[in-house]
Amino acid sequence: MTITIDQAAPVGTTSTRLTRPAPGPTLLSAREVTKSYAVGRRRAEILHGVSLGVAAGEMCAVMGPSGSGKSTLLYCLAGLEQPTTGSIDLLGRNLATVSRGELARLRRSEVGFVFQSYNLVPTLSVGENVALPWRLRRLLPPRDAIREAMATLGIESLARSLPISLSGGEQQRVALARVLAQSPRVVFADEPTGALDTTTGHVVLDQLAAIAADPQRAVLIVTHDPNVAARCDRVMFMRDGRLERQLSTPSAADVALVMAELSDGSTSSRS
Ligand SMILES: Nc1ncnc2c1ncn2[C@@H]1O[C@H](COP(=O)(O)OP(=O)(O)OP(=O)(O)O)[C@@H](O)[C@H]1O
Ligand SMILES: [Mg+2]
Repeated sequence: MTITIDQAAPVGTTSTRLTRPAPGPTLLSAREVTKSYAVGRRRAEILHGVSLGVAAGEMCAVMGPSGSGKSTLLYCLAGLEQPTTGSIDLLGRNLATVSRGELARLRRSEVGFVFQSYNLVPTLSVGENVALPWRLRRLLPPRDAIREAMATLGIESLARSLPISLSGGEQQRVALARVLAQSPRVVFADEPTGALDTTTGHVVLDQLAAIAADPQRAVLIVTHDPNVAARCDRVMFMRDGRLERQLSTPSAADVALVMAELSDGSTSSRS
C-alpha cells in the first residue's frame, strides 16, 4: 500500500490540493496551545503545544486515539474553553483579548459547534432546539433555512418531538440541523457522523463539504472514521495531546494506516 504522508509541510499548512481550489485566507490558527486541568492536587496536562491553521475553503479533520485531546482542542479553538497558554485567532480575533460580549457574538453568529454529546435542551422540542440560536439573540428564526436543514437531514417530521424520545442518530441530526441552518463561517463538528448510518453520514458530509466549498468558510471535523477523514482536504493526527502528523487529501486506507500506527505507539513514518 502506498501512503502519502505530508511530512514536508508543517502542521497548519497545505501542500497538495487535488480536488478543490487553493485555500483562501486563514480563518483559524492556533500557536503553541496548551491546556491543563486541575485534577485534585495535580494538573492534568491535556494539550502540549498544538499549532495549526485552517484556511477558508478547507474541510479538515482531526483524528487520534480516544483521550488524545481532540474534543479539548476543538473547545479551545472555538472559544468554548480557554487555553492555558498559547494563542488562538478565530475569524481575525485573538480569543485571548476579545471581549466577552464579542466572543459571545462570534460564537452565536459566525461559529457553529456540533457537540459530541449533541447538547440539545431536553425541555425544548426538536424545532425549538434548532431555532434556539436565534431565540437566544432575540431574533426571528429563519423558517425556510430551518425547514430546509431539517428536511435535508430527514428530521422534519420530528419537529414537535422532545429530544428524549429520539434515537442517538436522530438527536445528532437535530444538532447538525441547528448548525447547518445558521450557515456559520466556521463549523466545528465533534464526531458529527458517529451515530449515523452510512447513507445519512454521507448526507451530513455533503452538507459540511458544501459549507467548506464556500471560499469564505471552513469546517473542522473530529472523527474516528477513516472514510469521513478521506472526504477532507487535510487530516491532522493527534496523540497524547500533540499534533503529530498530517495527510493531505488521503485515502481512507492511508488514514487507517496512520491511525493504526498511532494506536499501537509506533512512531515510524513513510512517504
Ligand atoms: N474538564 C476536565 N478535567 C480533567 N480532565 C479532562 C477534562 N476534560 C477532558 N479531560 C481529559 O482530557 C483528556 C482528553 O479528553 P478529550 O475529551 O479531549 O479526548 P478525545 O480525544 O476527544 O477523546 P474521545 O475520542 O474519546 O472523544 C482525557 O484524558 C480526559 O479525561
Ligand atoms: Mg472527544
